Parts: sequence; C-alpha cells; structure tokens
Amino acid sequence: MNHFDYRNGELYAEDVAIARIAEAVGTPFYCYSTATLTRHYKVLAGALADMKPMICYAVKANSNLAVIKTLADLGAGADVVSEGELRRALAAGVPPGRIIYSGVGKTREELASAVEHGVHQVNVESLPELEALSEIAAARGAAIDIAIRVNPNVDAETHHKISTGRKEDKFGIAIEDAVAAYARAAALPAINPVSVAVHIGSQLTSLTPFRAAFMRIAELTQALRAQGHDIRRLDLGGGLGIPYRNETPPAPADYAAMVRDTVGGLGCEIAIEPGRMLVGNAGILVSRVIYIKEGHDRRFVIVDAAMNDLIRPALYESYHALLPGREPTPGTAMEPADIVGPVCETGDTFALGRPAPPLVTGDLLAFATAGAYGAVMSSTYNARPLAPEVLVKGDAYAVVRKRQSYEALLALDSLADWQDDRGAGRRRTG
Ligand code: LLP
Repeated sequence: MNHFDYRNGELYAEDVAIARIAEAVGTPFYCYSTATLTRHYKVLAGALADMKPMICYAVKANSNLAVIKTLADLGAGADVVSEGELRRALAAGVPPGRIIYSGVGKTREELASAVEHGVHQVNVESLPELEALSEIAAARGAAIDIAIRVNPNVDAETHHKISTGRKEDKFGIAIEDAVAAYARAAALPAINPVSVAVHIGSQLTSLTPFRAAFMRIAELTQALRAQGHDIRRLDLGGGLGIPYRNETPPAPADYAAMVRDTVGGLGCEIAIEPGRMLVGNAGILVSRVIYIKEGHDRRFVIVDAAMNDLIRPALYESYHALLPGREPTPGTAMEPADIVGPVCETGDTFALGRPAPPLVTGDLLAFATAGAYGAVMSSTYNARPLAPEVLVKGDAYAVVRKRQSYEALLALDSLADWQDDRGAGRRRTG
C-alpha cells in the first residue's frame, strides 16, 4: 500500500502532481511520501504493540534527515552502522537512548563516539571488537550495554548478496561460540552483556528462516541465563520483505505472532531493526525520457536516471515497476522496451524487455519501490551529480536534499603541487 497513484491520468504523490515537482526541481529526483512512511510504521508498531518493542529504524535504508525525522516523530529509534549514520540519527532528533549501534567493522573512533553519546546498546560482532570496546569504555569511566550479534547459521532464502546469517557470511559470532563470547564479555571491564542480537538477511519473503533463527536465539538466551548472565533484551534485526513485483511477504501481524511464539515467553525487551519495510514503498525515482532509440530487435528507452542513482537493478537484478508520468489509457498497446540510463555500462539497465506504453522524449517515467537502498547507495559515477530528494505531505512538498551542484561535485579534488594548474582553475593543496 502506498500513496503514489493516478488522478485524471496523471501520476501523483499524495496530493501533489509528480509533473509539478519535476518542473520545479528537474529530473531525476527521488520522491518520498509521508503518508506511506506513517502508514507502514503504524501497521508494524500496531502489530507488535502488546510486546512494546523498540522499533529502531535501520537508517541505512534511507538516511535522509527528513525521512529519519518523520519516523522518529512517530516514536522510532534508530539502528546505525557508522559514525555518519549516528550523526544523521542524532541530527534528526533520535534520542541516544533509542539508538542501537550495529556493524561488522566499527573503528575505535566509532566505538568511542558510541560511548560518548551514550547509545542504548552496541551490537558487537567479534572478540577483538569486544576487547576494543571494553578498553575504550573503561578509559572513559563509562560502562556500555552490549549485545553480541550471533550468527545462527540459517539461510534467509533471499538474494545471496543480502543473506547474512549463514556460517560462511562475515556477520556475527557463530552461535556455537556464543556462550564463550558472553563469558569473555562478562569478565571484561565496562561491558554489560544484557542482550542477544541477530539479523539473518534482508528482503525475506517467508517466516520460516526467521522462526528458525529466533528459536535458536531463545535457546541461547536460556543457556546464557543458566550461566548467570542477565539477558534482558533481544534484538531481532530487520529483514521483512516487501512486494516489488509479485512477492507476498509475511504480513506484520503474522511476523508479530511468530515473534510472540518463539521469544515471547522469555520476558525480554524486544528491539527490531526494520529498514526496507518502512521506507521501500514510500519512495519512487522519477526520470525523464531523453531519447527513444529503435534498435533492430528492440526499443531502447533512454532516461536521465542511471545506475549511479539507483544501483539495485545492476547489483541484484532487482525489479522496479514502471510508473509512467501519464497513465496509459485502457487498451493502450504495451510493447516491450529496454529501459536504460546514460551511464557507459551495459549494466546500466533498469528493465529488459519490459512491457511499456508508447513513450516519447520528455515523458516522465518513474521507478517504484525505490525508497529503500536507493538514494543511499547512489554515487557520482560518470561525474553525475547526486539527485535531489523530495518529501511530500498531503498537498505540500519540500526538497529535503538539494541536487548536488557541479561546483560541489568538483570541490574535494585538487591538483598535486607539481601539476601546472593553468587553465584548470583548480587549487593546489598545501
Ligand atoms: N539490521 C542490520 C544489522 C542490517 O544489516 C540490516 C540491513 C537491517 C537491520 C535492515 O534490514 P531490512 O529491514 O532493510 O531488510 N542494499 C540491499 C539491502 C542490504 C541490507 C543490509 N542490511 C538492497 O538494496 O536490497
């Protein structure tokens, strides 16, 4: 369910015509819907309400300050994996006490920033990280609550690049080593091992792997308590899938029932880290057709968005539904088209042989379900400036990230001091 649909044949985000935004900000741009973000948050929070969970939005899915703030205002905390994400969450008004700091390779500086800000919990993923965190916290005279992220060796049955809970994956500490790791944690200064964390992957469309993982976590929790550890919290990670095409991901109510079933009896505070489920369908990427090129056996629709703006099709062969700016009238013949961007790679293809209405230069064409892992994974490849982001609420819209200027695109580069800068207009360093 989202709030991008057609009115009188024109694509709208809530009560704002996409064409109006395109006119004002240019293309390509990301467009997010407040009503959709709100709805998704409320459905999830409602389904889990009896467990009073801490819903820590996985900021990596979409870290625009306005998006984080929209969710924070509804009560969400944040799951962050870098100092940059921590700063974004704090800047958007998430209280430190509602921030979980995850990540497989936090630097000492990042661990120090977690301690300094007094985050709710650090999820530790290796023994060396545990030792480092203990030293850092002890040196500051602070104690820090931690979870150990456990790798339960469960296949999430999702795209292999986003499956994280198999024993060959780099994440977490193997479940069979967890008891020893907690013993070490308890023996270290300034470390309170109060929680167990797990996250087995993203875009899960079945509850079965979740159930298997959470049952292992429940067993582990009991084993840890038997060793005298005061495990009071569980962090169940994110991973709930969403429909991109014809997937039928678990309903939040069914997910909640499974959580109750597997870990509900332990009396632990529950945290979850949903990303995609909250923001995926709340965003679209809007492009404009530059040219139609009739090939020998195919029609290429060349748009002004590219893999640098949305890399998911190139990286994961992901499907994003097409939303033409003008709704095809009933009976319009749909012809297959390859929807491609201007970047110099064959992988810069949004869709292959996809049924599309007749399109002409200047038409708007949007890609659906681009709110998660879209803008955050963009780059300036081919020296293309980062696209702007727009947030809609009812009949209002705001640019919540400006289009990067060409000056900003060049600003961090400089010539080496042995280079002649005549004509280049560039500063030398030093
Ligand atoms: N917690 C942890 C520790 C994570 O690693 C992730 C995602 C999440 C929570 C949120 O998962 P979600 O609820 O969004 O599934 N770029 C890929 C997805 C990478 C997911 C990385 N970790 C994509 O575009 O599909």
